[in-house]
Amino acid sequence: MTVGTESRIGKLLKDHSLSEDEYASLIAERTDEDAAVLKTEAVKQKEKIYGRDVFIRGLIEISNICVNDCYYCGIRRSNNASERYRLKADEIIECTDTGYELGFRTFVLQGGEDPYFDDEVLCSIIKKIKERHGDAAVTLSMGERSRSSYEKLFKAGADRYFLRHETADPVHYRKLHPHEMSFENRMRCLNDLRDIGYQTGCGFMVGSPYQTGKELAKDLKFVEKFKPDMCGIGPFIPHRDTPFSDRTAGSVELTLFLLSVLRIIYPPMLIPATTALGTLISDGRERGILSGANVVMPNLSPVSVRKKYELYDNKICTGEESAECRDCLSKKMLSIGHRIVTDRGDIKKYRKAEI
Ligand code: 5AD
Ligand code: FES
Repeated sequence: MTVGTESRIGKLLKDHSLSEDEYASLIAERTDEDAAVLKTEAVKQKEKIYGRDVFIRGLIEISNICVNDCYYCGIRRSNNASERYRLKADEIIECTDTGYELGFRTFVLQGGEDPYFDDEVLCSIIKKIKERHGDAAVTLSMGERSRSSYEKLFKAGADRYFLRHETADPVHYRKLHPHEMSFENRMRCLNDLRDIGYQTGCGFMVGSPYQTGKELAKDLKFVEKFKPDMCGIGPFIPHRDTPFSDRTAGSVELTLFLLSVLRIIYPPMLIPATTALGTLISDGRERGILSGANVVMPNLSPVSVRKKYELYDNKICTGEESAECRDCLSKKMLSIGHRIVTDRGDIKKYRKAEI
C-alpha cells in the first residue's frame, strides 16, 4: 500500500466520497492489500445494516426481442442468429406463482425493448401480479421509456425500476451504443424514475470495450452523487454474434474490488452478485457477496427460453428449473455463512450517525 492509496482509502472510509481523480488513482494503483482492506470494511458496513442476510430476486426474462442495437449485447436487433421469443402474460404470471411458492417476494421482469410490451400490456401484467401476490415487490427492467409510461407503470403497482446507466461518460457511451441512443436520454430516464417514486437502480459493466480507470472513476462518482437504491455491476463478457465478439472479458478481480468500493460509497445500497460474475468463475457470486454484495437473482424464467436470453456467451443457470436454481444459490450462500431470506428486501435507509 503506497502512502497515496492509504490516505485515499482513509478518506473514502471517512467521507464515503473521493474526487474523480482520486477514484481513478485508487483503481489504477490498487494492490491486493488495498483490496483486502476495502473488502473487510465493505463487509463490516454491509453487516451493520443487513447482517448476513442475502436478498433474492426472482428474475423473469420476459422477451428477448429488442429494438436497440447495443454493440455489446447478444440480443441486439441485428443479431439474426438469436432465436426470438416473448412470454405470454399467463406464462409470466405462472412464473411468479411458482416463485411465490418458492419464497420469492420480489419479481424482476426483465426484457429487451420489445414494443409488444406497451403500457397497456405491462400495466395489466403488473396489476395481476399485485392482485395475486400483494406482499411481493415488482421490479421492472425494460429499458428506456417515456416519463408518462414510467408513471403509468408505477401507478399500476411497479415498485422498482432497474436501468443500468452502462457508463457515466458520454464519449464512452457513444462507443458502446449506436447513434440513435443517447447518454442524455439514459440520464433523463433515471432521473424521471427516481422523481416518480420508484426505488431506482443503475449500474455498469466492468471491462467493457474502451473502458479505462477514468471511465470507471466517473461511474463511481455518478453512483456517489445519484445514490441509487440498487446498483448492479458485472464483468463484460463477449458474445460471439456482436461487434465486440473478439474483445476480452472484464476482470473478476476488478469487479470484486469495485463491489467493495460501491458498498463503502453508499452503505445501504442493494448490490447484486451478478450472474455474469458467476459465469466467469464458478464461485463468482459467493466472492461477490464476500466483497460487499447482498443480493442474488435466481432465474425464474421457463427453462425453454433461458438459453435464448443470451446477453453474453456461456451464461449460467440456463438448464435448471426455478427450484433448482434457488436451492443451488441457497446452498452456495450457506457455504459462506450467509442465508437467503424471504423478504421484499427493500433498501434500509439509515441515519448517517449510525454508520
Ligand atoms: N456482458 C455483460 N453484461 C452484459 N449486459 C448486456 N450485454 C452484456 C455482456 N455482453 C448487461 C448490460 C445490461 C444488462 C441487462 O446486462 O449492462 O444493462
Ligand atoms: Fe442458478 Fe446454480 S444458481 S443453477
